[in-house]
Amino acid sequence: MKFQDKTALVTGAAGGIGKAIVARLQAGGATVLGADRVQGEADQFITGDLTDKAFCDGLPAQAVEAMGGLDILINNAGIITRGDITAATDDDYARTMAINVEAPFRLCRAAIPIMAAAGGGAIVNTSSCWGVHPGPNHPVYVMSKAAIASLTQCLGMDHAHQGIRVNAVCPNEVNTPMIRTGFEIRGIDPDKAVAELNASVPLGRIAEPEDIADVVAFLASDDARYMCGALVEVNGGKPVS
Ligand SMILES: NC(=O)c1ccc[n+]([C@@H]2O[C@H](COP(=O)([O-])OP(=O)(O)OC[C@H]3O[C@@H](n4cnc5c(N)ncnc54)[C@H](O)[C@@H]3O)[C@@H](O)[C@H]2O)c1
Repeated sequence: MKFQDKTALVTGAAGGIGKAIVARLQAGGATVLGADRVQGEADQFITGDLTDKAFCDGLPAQAVEAMGGLDILINNAGIITRGDITAATDDDYARTMAINVEAPFRLCRAAIPIMAAAGGGAIVNTSSCWGVHPGPNHPVYVMSKAAIASLTQCLGMDHAHQGIRVNAVCPNEVNTPMIRTGFEIRGIDPDKAVAELNASVPLGRIAEPEDIADVVAFLASDDARYMCGALVEVNGGKPVS
């Protein structure tokens, strides 16, 4: 039981990868507070919008109130904004940065003093392979994921001395509503599209949420006790193209 007596806050907990992260942490013995715009399952759950600054600022303290502590923070919520820069509206830019960058910034800023006072903790952010190797025609999404990757590297250095480890997981394609709804919007059958994508991955398939959740759980656990500021790519051998 790697997470015996640990408390964890997971954002985007109702989504594809988020659900799997909650399940992995609970299986390891953690008490988990899930947060999402929509209701999901965890030991406790809070619904709220991460574009609400006050909601983000207060969430770590709410986690302490609900669970008696905050050992682990998983900044997993995110949105994908598609299209080249000429297709991006002001709202696309503001919303993407608010959810993918500003919310983790606010949550880290509020969680770090709580963790420091308790003698340490672990934060795992969700970047993307595209955050470290830009992919085509998604500049707003890619820059947001590069920003969270950079924030992870900075905080990994700055707060190691307090026993707080900050790392990021960088998935390539994962079989979740995020990727499937993208196909549906473009009128493409998601099952067929995923089958085609599977053929493009050296390991033979795109990731399932659990493939990512296992790496997140590793980074959150003492098995990763010497890792600070790492950007861990989880890509089945597929480079960004
Ligand atoms: N699916 C992929 O191929 C892939 C690849 C690389 C990185 N990622 C990243 O993984 C993370 C999880 O993505 P997923 O694939 O599980 O997507 P998903 O759409 O299934 O889940 C994302 C969750 O975030 C929540 N969320 C979005 N906006 C929110 C807001 N304003 N307030 C509160 N909650 C909000 C959604 O309600 C949803 O439950 C994201 O950060 C995503 O960018 C996904």
